[in-house]
Amino acid sequence: MLRSKIAGIGYYVPERVVKNGDLVQIMDTTDEWIQERTGIQERRYGRKHEETTTTMAAAATRIACERAGIRPEDIDFIIFATLSPDYYFPGCGVLVQRELGITHREVGALDVRNQCSGFVYALSVADQFVRTGTYKNVLVVGSEMHSMGLDFSTRGRNVTVIFGDGAGAAILQPSDNPERGILATKLHSDGTYAEKLAFINPGCHGGYHMRKLGEEADLGYPPVETPGEIFFTPRMLQEGLYYPNMEGQFVFKMAVQKFPEVIFEALQAAGLTSADLDMLIPHQANLRISQFVQKKLGLRDDQVWNNIQRFGNTTAASIPIALCEAWEAGKIKDGDLVCLAAFGSGFTWASALLRWG
Ligand code: ACO
Repeated sequence: MLRSKIAGIGYYVPERVVKNGDLVQIMDTTDEWIQERTGIQERRYGRKHEETTTTMAAAATRIACERAGIRPEDIDFIIFATLSPDYYFPGCGVLVQRELGITHREVGALDVRNQCSGFVYALSVADQFVRTGTYKNVLVVGSEMHSMGLDFSTRGRNVTVIFGDGAGAAILQPSDNPERGILATKLHSDGTYAEKLAFINPGCHGGYHMRKLGEEADLGYPPVETPGEIFFTPRMLQEGLYYPNMEGQFVFKMAVQKFPEVIFEALQAAGLTSADLDMLIPHQANLRISQFVQKKLGLRDDQVWNNIQRFGNTTAASIPIALCEAWEAGKIKDGDLVCLAAFGSGFTWASALLRWG
C-alpha cells in the first residue's frame, strides 16, 4: 500500500489584529487575565461580510496548491473541517470548490464537524483515500470565522477572548518514498461530555439532551412545541441564547490527559518514542495546555510550535496554520518526525505522525 505525504501547505490569517487591550474596551476583562490564563496577546478577525470561512480557506488552499506544484483544478477530493461554516447547510466543502473554480469536474467534497480535532480527522480520512490509490490530490482544509459568532458582552468573556479567525490547508499526495509521509493516525471520541464545550442553539434538539441529562439549563425553547419556533425561538434572539459555552476547567483537565495519551499512542503504533520526535504541533487551545504536554513528553521549547500568542485559538485551522508557520520558519526539515495532536469539543481527540518530505 502507498503512503501519503503533505505535498504543499499554506495558511491565511486576516489582516485585522485585535489585541487584548481592544477587548478590554468592550467587555470586563484584562490583558493580564487573558495572558496569564491562555498565553494569548492578540488574534485576527476577518472583514465581516467580505471574508468568510470559505474565502479564507480558498486563500490558504491557493498557497498550498502552488507549493504542491498543482492548480486548484487538479484537486480530486475536498475535505473541509470547520465549526463556523458559512451556511448551516450546504457545507463549506462545496463552497470552497466553487470559490476555487473547480467546477469543470464533479469532484467529491466532504465536511468534517469535529471542531478542534477536525483537521487531524480530515487528514486521516484523506490518508485512507490516498493510500488506497483512490485519489491523488486531496485538499484538507481547516478554516474558522469565529468572530461572527462570539458574545462580545462580559457574559461571553470566558470564551470570546480565546478565539480567532484563520485558515490552513494541505494537499495530500501519494509519496514516492515509502519512508516518508503519514506513519500513523489515531482518532478518538467520547460523547459523554458533549455539552461541556458546545454551541447548541440554534439546533433541532428542542432541549431533548438537557432533559435527558436532567440538567436545568434554560435553552429558550417554549414548553409546548410551537411549529416554526423550535429551531430558533424569539426568546433565543432576545436573550442571546445562541452563543458557544465552555466549562473551561473541565475542558482543561480532560485536555491535559488526552493530548499526551493520543501522542504516545501514535508513536507506539509507529514503533517510536517521544525521544524520536523533532516537532510537536499541538492544536493551539491554550498555551498552558501545550506547555503541560511538552513537559509530559520531555520536549525542549524549540520542539513545540506555539503561535496562540499571536492568533488565539483558531480551532480546525490551528494545526495547519502552526504546521505551515513552523515549516516556513525552517523548523521542519526533510526527514523530521512531526506529530500533530488535538483535543476539543465532542470530546474528540486525535493525532497524526508524519515523516516530513
Ligand atoms: N476576563 C476576566 N475574568 C474572566 C474572564 C475573562 N476573559 N473569563 C472568566 N473570568 C473570570 C470568571 O468569571 C471567574 O471569576 P470568579 O472567580 O469571580 O467566578 C474567574 O475568572 C475564573 O474563571 P475560570 O473559568 O475558573 O478560569 P480558569 O482559570 O479556569 O481559566 C480558561 C479559564 C482559560 C478558559 C481555562 O479554564 C482553560 O484554559 N480551559 C481550557 C479550555 C480551553 O483551552 N478552551 C479552548 C477552547 S477548547 C479547545 O480548543 C480544547
